[in-house]
This record gives sequence, structure tokens and C-alpha cells, in this order.
Amino acid sequence: MDTKLFVVQDIEKDAPLLQEAADILKRGGLVAIPTETVYGLAADALNPEAVKKIFAAKGRPADNPLIVHIAEFEEIYGLASQVPESAKILAERFWPGPLTMIVPKGESIPDITSAGLPTVAIRMPSHPIAREIIRRSCPLAAPSANLSGSPSTTTAQHCIHDLGGRVDAIVDGGECRFGVESTVITLAGKKPRLLRPGAITLEELRDALGEVEMDKAVLSQIDPGERVSSPGMKYKHYAPKAKVVIVDGDSESFLRFLNEQTGEGIFGLVFSGEEERANKPCVVYGENDEDVTQAHRLFAALRELDERGAKLVYARCPHKEGVGLAVYNRLLRAAAFEEITL
Ligand code: TXA
Ligand code: MG
Repeated sequence: MDTKLFVVQDIEKDAPLLQEAADILKRGGLVAIPTETVYGLAADALNPEAVKKIFAAKGRPADNPLIVHIAEFEEIYGLASQVPESAKILAERFWPGPLTMIVPKGESIPDITSAGLPTVAIRMPSHPIAREIIRRSCPLAAPSANLSGSPSTTTAQHCIHDLGGRVDAIVDGGECRFGVESTVITLAGKKPRLLRPGAITLEELRDALGEVEMDKAVLSQIDPGERVSSPGMKYKHYAPKAKVVIVDGDSESFLRFLNEQTGEGIFGLVFSGEEERANKPCVVYGENDEDVTQAHRLFAALRELDERGAKLVYARCPHKEGVGLAVYNRLLRAAAFEEITL
């Protein structure tokens, strides 16, 4: 298939491109679109045939449900069978933005979109291009626009690399602002529970709702066959071809450890400035103790390690609070949970 590339710089001037993207979606096609978190691979959330193509293009397991993206809060009433008070509180504070809420699903949601679950994940993105395309089309099911298992895409170039020839169009809206996927919280159980950390932090959610639990899968590996609340958390994820090992220690001890290692294809995944003191090639992901810059750079850094032929990567461990929890959660999966403490 020929993949069209729409470069959108200005919502008004480039309106015809946005309309073309929306028309493809309304006809049941696939379009990769920019959001403030990562690029999404979008299709009409209410059209089972269209949604089926998402799973095929990504190679995504059929039991992993999709997030439905909306442009206005009111749309939630057509998608959910029940909108808890907590959803209204969170929407008021954090929408549009990088937060996905799981609520009981309405009848309009096809089984394929929610992977057969009785719930549906809903998010209202803040990216002006994403919002404009939703407005001009329909609610969009959109997982991250990467091949299943690979690091999520934060530029149109990443999307072309993973999905060129597999989708109808890619909308280039530049680099994504946050760089990690949205925070996912379920409001469908007795207590609100964080399923995936993101740019809206656990601390902020607790501030808004009071008690919020953290799902076990956020920081630990799920045994095969174990029942999970968020199916996405059980799969191999964000993995570059290279083996990744997280090394927990301060800058000095990390560099001493990295510099002592011997073997071929060893790389460091480090914070800015540390590359100058390493005797191995390094890829930088953000500044020490600046979780927002780490989130912004992480997926591009994992892709760069592959391009540079890394075989074994020792990664600096981020702190685990605030947005750092999201960075650590993604890095843990990239490392298949392998971590050394110095
Ligand atoms: O930032 C994001 O959320 C991006 C952009 C494109 O919006 N999308 C994204 O989608 O990351 P995806 O499909 O890669 O991740 C969705 C996550 C998966 O872990 C999935 O298992 C979980 O949300 N999820 C979706 N629906 C769910 C449901 N009904 N119950 C529990 N988990 C659900
Ligand atoms: Mg994903």
C-alpha cells in the first residue's frame, strides 16, 4: 500500500490535509496522527472492520484493548454506559491532556475495540492536530503508532520506519511534547487504580481523588497466564534489539561500572554530560534528575541504540517519583525487568 505523508504546520492553512486525513478515517482507513504523548495509529473506533486493520498493521495481540480518543467531554456519554463522578473530576482537571480513563463500556463500542472487556479506555488528547482530526471525523481508536513490541513513536520519521506501506497515511506534526504514553487509570473498580504511569503523575491523581491504588503490574513482571487489569502491561514492550540492563546507582558508580565492562557492542544509556566521562559509546536520554526531559527522549534514544548497532546497553536508572515513575516503568519493560543495583 502507498502511504501518504501529510506535513501539517498550521491548523488553518493545512486544513485541506486534515480534512483528507479525516476522510480516510471516515472511510475505514488507517492514519498515524501526532498527539502530545506519542503518535497514535488511528481508525474509526466504532467500525469493527477499521479497528481490525489496526491490529493487523501493528501485529498487536487481539486481547489488548485500544484507547478511544474524543475531542469534547460530552462524547463520553455516547461511549460509556456509566460516567462515575471521579471521571468528571479528573476530566475537569486533566482533559484535554495525557490521561486515559477506564469506565464501563457503552453499547456503541465494538468488542474488537475493547478486546471483549466490559470496559472502555477513553482519552481526550490536547494536541491541536489530533483534536482537529477527531472533530472532522469520529471517535478514534488509537494505540501507539509502532510495531507491537517496539518503542513507541514520537516523530513522523519513526512512524514511517515502523508503518510505512502498512497504513493509508501519516500526519507529520513534529516531535511529540511528552514522549511517553498517557497515564491510564481505571475507574471501573471499587477504588481508582493506576494501570500505567505517565505525564499526569500518581501524586496529581491522588491530589484530585484522594486514594488511588497502584496496580502491581506498574513495577513488576506479570507471570504468563496471570490475570491482569491492563492487558498491555503483560507483553514485551518498548524493546530495542539490544539487550538492556538497568543499573541503579549514582552517576559516579554507574560510570565506574560502565567503564569496567568489556565486550563488543556495549553502550551506555546515560544522562547529559555523562557521555564525556564514559569509555563506551553512549546515547543520552535527558538530564539527570529531570524526569520530563528523560520521558521526552527515552523512546528516540532506544531507537537510536538500534541504529548504532548496540548489542548490550547499560541504562542509568531514573528516579521513581513523579514523571520518573513513567520513565522507569517503560525502561523496566525495555530491559525485560533486568536490573542491577550498585
Ligand atoms: O498516550 C497514549 O495513550 C497513546 C496515544 C496514541 O493516545 N496511546 C497508547 O495506546 O498508548 P496503547 O494501545 O499503546 O496503550 C493502551 C493501554 C494498553 O496497555 C491497554 O492494555 C490499556 O491501555 N487498555 C486499553 N483499554 C483498556 C481497558 N478497557 N482496560 C484495561 N486496560 C486497557
Ligand atoms: Mg503501545
